Amino acid sequence: MGEPGILGVHNLSMSLDGYVAGPRQDAENPLGVGGMRLHDWVFATRTGRRMIGEPGGSTGLDDAFLRRGETGTDGRGIGATIMGRNMFGPVRGPWPGPPAAPWRGWWGEEPPYHHPVFVLTHEPREPQPMAGGTTFHFVTDGIESALALARAAAGERELRLGGGATTIRQYLRAGLVDQLHLVLVPVLLGSGERLLDDDLSGRYAVSRTTPGDGGVTHVELDRVR
Ligand SMILES: NC(=O)c1ccc[n+]([C@@H]2O[C@H](COP(=O)([O-])OP(=O)(O)OC[C@H]3O[C@@H](n4cnc5c(N)ncnc54)[C@H](OP(=O)(O)O)[C@@H]3O)[C@@H](O)[C@H]2O)c1
Repeated sequence: MGEPGILGVHNLSMSLDGYVAGPRQDAENPLGVGGMRLHDWVFATRTGRRMIGEPGGSTGLDDAFLRRGETGTDGRGIGATIMGRNMFGPVRGPWPGPPAAPWRGWWGEEPPYHHPVFVLTHEPREPQPMAGGTTFHFVTDGIESALALARAAAGERELRLGGGATTIRQYLRAGLVDQLHLVLVPVLLGSGERLLDDDLSGRYAVSRTTPGDGGVTHVELDRVR
């Protein structure tokens, strides 16, 4: 048996002042107030437009990076995704029971994952199967447990750490992220969710910087071994 798949962050959009989401997330503002500007470059690409059911879009470098986020760096496809509860949705506290319809993610009935997704939360909930092969599993016993479950589900395939800031910060702190691909977006958000508040120097190093074709800059970091 080969090495299990790496854990990678792909296409994480970050403002010049270090925010990956604006403040006060709610159902109308999935990326927080003002945060959608972070994803303008995504929806200019063919892959980004396909995610929202729209035709067209650019097919240059930005698009290639987005596709790599789906195929993994080895091209074999992502086997499982881990995310925090706020990336999954705007619902806080205990999950509302019936008659309220359960929150099923931002992505509609067929989310663009097509593999198991492990959602970190303190609020237990039964798994939520969706169309197209995605099942949301809710993990209440921490980041290492979520990683073990994701690895077991993914087999040899790579794992994706989706976000948001709180979740990625914990995995970075624990040294569990193998690759971190940031997309620097030339906007100032002023407030929101910050990613890089810990000292990662000596633990992660920039391996490549690539100007994108939508005004953004792709910065790839690897864990120092
Ligand atoms: N810029 C980008 O490319 C990008 C990518 C992904 C996401 N985002 C954005 O980032 C924002 C979300 O980031 P965020 O930092 O607010 O939150 P997050 O990391 O998505 O979720 C945080 C929540 O997850 C649960 N959680 C996290 N770690 C846990 C642990 N160890 N054990 C149990 N539960 C745990 C907790 O929820 P409970 O205690 O409430 O259960 C916590 O409040 C959203 O606006 C999203 O759209 C941006």
